[in-house]
Amino acid sequence: MKRILFVFGTRPEAIKLAPLIKTFGAHISFVVKVCVTAQHREMLDQALGFFDIVPDYDLNLMQANQTLLQITARALESLEPVINDAKPDLIFVQGDTTTVLVGALASYYKNIKVAHIEAGLRSFDKYSPFPEEMNRLLISRLADFHFTPTQGALENLLEEGIKTNVYNVGNTVIDALQLGLSIIQKDENTYSTFFKNIDFSKKIILVTCHRRESFGKPFQDICKALLRIATENEDVELVYPVHLNPNIQDIAKKLLVHPRIKLISPLDYPYFIWLMNKSYLVLTDSGGIQEEAPSLGKPVLVLRNVTERTEGIAAGTAKLVGTDPEIIFSETWTLLKNANEYARMSKATNPYGDGTSTDKILGILMDDIFRGE
Ligand code: UD1
Ligand code: UDP
Repeated sequence: MKRILFVFGTRPEAIKLAPLIKTFGAHISFVVKVCVTAQHREMLDQALGFFDIVPDYDLNLMQANQTLLQITARALESLEPVINDAKPDLIFVQGDTTTVLVGALASYYKNIKVAHIEAGLRSFDKYSPFPEEMNRLLISRLADFHFTPTQGALENLLEEGIKTNVYNVGNTVIDALQLGLSIIQKDENTYSTFFKNIDFSKKIILVTCHRRESFGKPFQDICKALLRIATENEDVELVYPVHLNPNIQDIAKKLLVHPRIKLISPLDYPYFIWLMNKSYLVLTDSGGIQEEAPSLGKPVLVLRNVTERTEGIAAGTAKLVGTDPEIIFSETWTLLKNANEYARMSKATNPYGDGTSTDKILGILMDDIFRGE
């Protein structure tokens, strides 16, 4: 038996690790423990609840409007007793958040092997996404197993000289999405009742936005664009589950006052994917949503100047529109009015995976860590 510790802290990590936690947890060869830093609180708990994951260790670290340095320092110190107690043979981390960097660093300091899920994404701009680009780079230096979501990500690692234990397996976000969809399909009424205040006779534009590099003027510009989209298109309704970061909450509530812009609380994962499935179009700066939306045939306009998810842009499922209000407005207008352009984006194939990533990772690790036993 091998002892496995999953370390994560935010909503997207919980969603993308859930299929792995379930699969490794059910396997007779592993003893699985889960540690959440709770860098996020409510938004993490929403994902844990849906996937029925009960952490063995909950560091409960989130503080309102925490700085990068504060959450980094608190997480690093708090992980030491957890690792001492869990005595893992292998630690799993996923993605590019502060928790992931700290989890990988703590594992390295304690001489424990690290498996990095969703390795190798690069925007090649160290300030965008900030601090995620640098986090992900540093994690790659620390990790022992690198599971990339695409061939391009694998090649990025090879170019950096990371050549051992690098495997392209697709993104576990698609495994999670398939799991989520199979559950919600059984219960359509619950969801339509929950969203009774949304006018589904209109074209729904689903919006999310939370990146640190957009705080301040870029986010205000995004809000200007959203307001103009609502004002000039009577046949659309914008639905925006607002991230709980106060830098986003305060501005969104102040600037986005319009009868056809619905600001709502962050949604439980199944409600979010149900709503995405009913949407016409997605405007987002989220990494995970760029990867999920193409599986549901929804075009994505990416509210960022650069993205480390380049395959979606190349495949035509997503388009970078930045934060300039004119460009956001005109690209949205095109997708609202030009049926051919809409069809082209919505029919492109999802390059991020096919729902088999978890099984691939399990197979690779079984071969590797039990070799010679
Ligand atoms: C973090 C990650 C980002 C990831 C995002 C997913 C870092 C540096 N950033 O950004 O990579 O894309 O999560 O959403 O790791 N808050 C709450 N309740 C919650 C969650 C957040 O109130 O459940 C508020 C708190 O005031 C908290 C603030 O949001 O201090 C910021 O949270 P934090 O995790 O530091 O950054 P995010 O912007 O959420
Ligand atoms: N999501 C959710 N509820 C919401 C908004 C998003 O469950 O209200 C899910 C979404 O389906 C995706 C993930 O959260 O799987 C993306 O998280 P986020 O945008 O916070 O982070 P990122 O992917 O940018 O790191």
